[in-house]
Order: sequence, then structure tokens, then C-alpha cells
Amino acid sequence: MHAGMSDLPIHIDQASVRAGDVTILDGVSLAIAPGKPTILVGPNGSGKSTLIRLCMGLIEASSGRITWGGRNNQGERCAMVFQRPVMLRRTAAANIDFVLASGSRSARDERIAQLLKQVGLERLRDRPARRLSGGEQQRLALARALALNPDVLFLDEPTASLDPAATKAVEDIIRSTSDAGIKIVMATHDLGQARRLAGDIAFLVRGKLTEYSTSEAFFTSPATPQAAAFLRGDLVL
Ligand SMILES: Nc1ncnc2c1ncn2[C@@H]1O[C@H](COP(=O)(O)OP(=O)(O)OP(=O)(O)O)[C@@H](O)[C@H]1O
Ligand SMILES: [Mg+2]
Repeated sequence: MHAGMSDLPIHIDQASVRAGDVTILDGVSLAIAPGKPTILVGPNGSGKSTLIRLCMGLIEASSGRITWGGRNNQGERCAMVFQRPVMLRRTAAANIDFVLASGSRSARDERIAQLLKQVGLERLRDRPARRLSGGEQQRLALARALALNPDVLFLDEPTASLDPAATKAVEDIIRSTSDAGIKIVMATHDLGQARRLAGDIAFLVRGKLTEYSTSEAFFTSPATPQAAAFLRGDLVL
């Protein structure tokens, strides 16, 4: 544990990410603070995944600054779930055990049971993780991320390949996780989902943070023509 050393707020200050002569993120400033989920929306290629990777410390900004809880170096209180989770060739339980850093065997087993229950997979404890359905694997990935006791959980389109029932199961876990005080930052293409879950919305277009507002303001009275077009389902280029 890292008592007292929160990774929140994450302050992104004029951050740009370039690869060669391509600008992937262009002067993005955003504060990620405790509260309801922050949802990233925007057209394909607008930089949502890159912004998540930047916040996770998986890539560095080419310019600008990012701080975690006022510190320059990222702590260990950020966790992430990808669109397609990678499971170890082990049981569901062992996939969680793998990330539990310490503790006695019985304490770990208790924590595994609690996490599996939290995501509704307690019956599948001993099932090989790679044989679980896509929706079950996504729930296991959430349990594995929660095992890290994060302050912030980044989700990159966690329901993109799931059917409506599996999507609902994942959304329920996201909601209860958020209610438990873990900050959710999620990229999604599903505007219905954004509306259901978001506290605030960050709307990206071509690497720029084009609009950042409360969910209610974004959906009822978008401030930019690009956001209005995006909400209508028009192409935003
Ligand atoms: N290493 C790289 N070199 C060059 N271009 C890159 C690199 N990584 C990402 N890009 C480009 O940066 C842009 C933003 O990519 P990113 O994956 O962040 O977008 P996204 O909003 O997550 O898109 P999607 O909705 O399709 O998931 C894309 O045009 C992508 O091709
Ligand atoms: Mg993406």
C-alpha cells in the first residue's frame, strides 16, 4: 500500500505527443480529479487511446507537463483495462493472484474470492481464463485491475466487442467501482454509454481537446459545432 500518496489529481498541462512529423496529441490540458467518471469521446484516431497511455505513463509527452498528485513521477495507483484483455494461460483465480503482490495464501484466496464476487465470476474461479467468453474475460480483467487497489482506473473501450447483456454487466461494475471512490477514466464510442456513466466529457478531435464539459452540458447544449455534429452522427473531420 502507499498510504497518503494519491495519484490524483492528474494534471495534464499543454501536453503534446508527436511521432515523427505526426502530431497525435496537440496541447491538451485537462485535470483528472476525484468524482464521477471522466469519459473520452471523439472520432477514430482523435487521440483517446494515446491520452490514456500518456496518463498511465506508458508514453511520454513530447512537450508539456503531466503530474500525478502534484508529483512529476507517476505513482503506482493507476490501473488500466484494454479493449481486448490479455489473459495468462491459467485459471481465472490465478490471473488475479498474479497481480496480488503479497499476503499469506489464505489472505490472497480471500481477496480473490471477493474480487471474483464483485465482478460476478465466483463460479468460474477455476476455469482456464482463456476459455472464458469475451464478456467474462473483460470482467476478469476488471477484477485484475481492481486487485491493484487503484486510485484511477483507465478503461479503453472496455465494451467495444461485447453484446448488450455483457455490456450492461461491465457498466454495472464500472458504476459500483466509481461509487466506491475509484476514479474512472474511459474511452468509448458508445454515446449511450457515455451518457449513462459520465460525470464529465472530454471530446477530442484530431488530437485537440475540443470540448470539455459536464455530461449534461455536452449532451444538451454542446458548445462547439464539431461536438454538435458528432452528437448528430455526422462525420467530424
Ligand atoms: N506511434 C505512432 N506513430 C504514428 N502515428 C501514431 C502512433 N500512435 C498513434 N498514432 C496515430 O495517432 C492517432 C491517434 O491514435 P489513437 O489510437 O490515440 O486514437 P483513438 O482516438 O484511440 O482512435 P480509435 O477511436 O480508433 O481507438 C491515429 O491517427 C494513429 O494512427
Ligand atoms: Mg483508441
